[in-house]
Amino acid sequence: MWQLPEKKTKAIYQSIVELVMNHIKAGRLLPGEKLPPERQLAAAFGVNRSTVVHALDELEAMGVIIRKQGSGTLINEGKWGIYTGASTNWRSYLSGAFNHRDPYLEKVSQLAKNPGGRVIDAYTGELPLELIPSLALPSISWNDFLVEESLQDELGYLPLRQQIVTHLNHERELSLTTDQLLLTSGAQQALFLIIQVLLQSGDAVAIEEPSSFYPLPIFQAAGIRLYGVPVDGQGMKVELLEQMIIKRKIKMVLVNPNFQNPTGSTMSLPRRKQLVSLCQQYQIPIVEDDVFSQLYFSEKDKPVLLKQLDSENVIYIGSLSKILGATTKIGWLSAPVKVAQQLAEARKEMDFTLSIFPQVLASSALSNRQFDQQIKVLRQELKRRRDVLIGYLKEFLGREVSYVVPEGGYYLWLQVEKRTLKQGDFDFLLELGGLVAPSFTFGVNRQSLRINFARLTHKDALRLVKLIHKMIYKS
Ligand SMILES: Cc1ncc(COP(=O)(O)O)c(C=O)c1O
Repeated sequence: MWQLPEKKTKAIYQSIVELVMNHIKAGRLLPGEKLPPERQLAAAFGVNRSTVVHALDELEAMGVIIRKQGSGTLINEGKWGIYTGASTNWRSYLSGAFNHRDPYLEKVSQLAKNPGGRVIDAYTGELPLELIPSLALPSISWNDFLVEESLQDELGYLPLRQQIVTHLNHERELSLTTDQLLLTSGAQQALFLIIQVLLQSGDAVAIEEPSSFYPLPIFQAAGIRLYGVPVDGQGMKVELLEQMIIKRKIKMVLVNPNFQNPTGSTMSLPRRKQLVSLCQQYQIPIVEDDVFSQLYFSEKDKPVLLKQLDSENVIYIGSLSKILGATTKIGWLSAPVKVAQQLAEARKEMDFTLSIFPQVLASSALSNRQFDQQIKVLRQELKRRRDVLIGYLKEFLGREVSYVVPEGGYYLWLQVEKRTLKQGDFDFLLELGGLVAPSFTFGVNRQSLRINFARLTHKDALRLVKLIHKMIYKS
């Protein structure tokens, strides 16, 4: 954004003036928005600071910017419209729930997208490319896709629904039918539909604390109040939920009980039973988000699903994103027939129908004979990566940190015991190239960070642990 044209046709300060004006016209700079400091601009343009000052003087004289002591240089709000021809103050429209990106996370995401040699990305919530099963696709024509469309109704592409239902019934001893399964464009769309259709503005929802649902703007935008119930090594502390149900008039409980994002913890069976019976008692539906379902790697038995304990009262959500990559955009929810139908109907009315293309491709991936074998290999590799990380944590950080050993998924939640962490510590780690998700992202101020160990090669795990060591011992 802060680059001058290579071809010099005018004085540099004039080019800077023109660049700022163009950014305003294109809506890249909005009224009230702050410009970077002069020194930073000079460095970006590769010019003397005095040249930047000259350009800013000019822009100030034109009324385009204002300089405020202590606040820096801002695009003039009052003059908006005079020099751009536009009359809408878009900035005021853009201040809703979808415009509150944390600056720290902005930086982390940018670095994750353009990693230099130094960066270790344990932040991104996906498998690295090398672990995603590589499945050959059938040769299929455009027309073949269109023919398949006849097998699609409001709930989605029938062959894929059949495959998912068969898989769930077989693996989880459920007895679902295809009319109880709605295919969605990822698990997040399933959540979105549930919020839009089953809840109303002002309703209260209980979630785990910490939780990856906490930062999602889809709740805030719909006016949903979120309340966190603390999580320990056995998942949500259900004994604290009842008070909350009464006090906050909870309308729904939303949990991620298997290999939870971000704590990696798995809800114990007694807690699951307690949760199900409490919600039955108060007639509150449970939404069970199980996106990591396939990624268990413990020797213990697979965790029993809440859906298995109470098929009527639990809406179950799954997704292919965590095994086939986030761009797959195939998820599903299983709910009582009437609920599934209503959600499908609402989606149709919102005109969010699901394209046939990813559904046919997902169906083909799931029926690939290699699929099960590759998932097995993936589980083994995840376990190996978890153990490598834990080995280094033990060796270099010992009692300075604590964590629950994840039995599946790909997150380890590292709690720093040695000392109180501040924002500056996370900045320091970031400067060293250590990309993690700090606890404040998930609605808690605890001394913790989420590490995606699936993304760490042996070498990276060692490097990251050493960086965390440096951060902890920094004076
Ligand atoms: C717990 C949890 N639920 C839902 C989602 C969203 O999944 P999808 O990519 O299928 O929309 C994620 C993705 O990070 C997640 O971690």
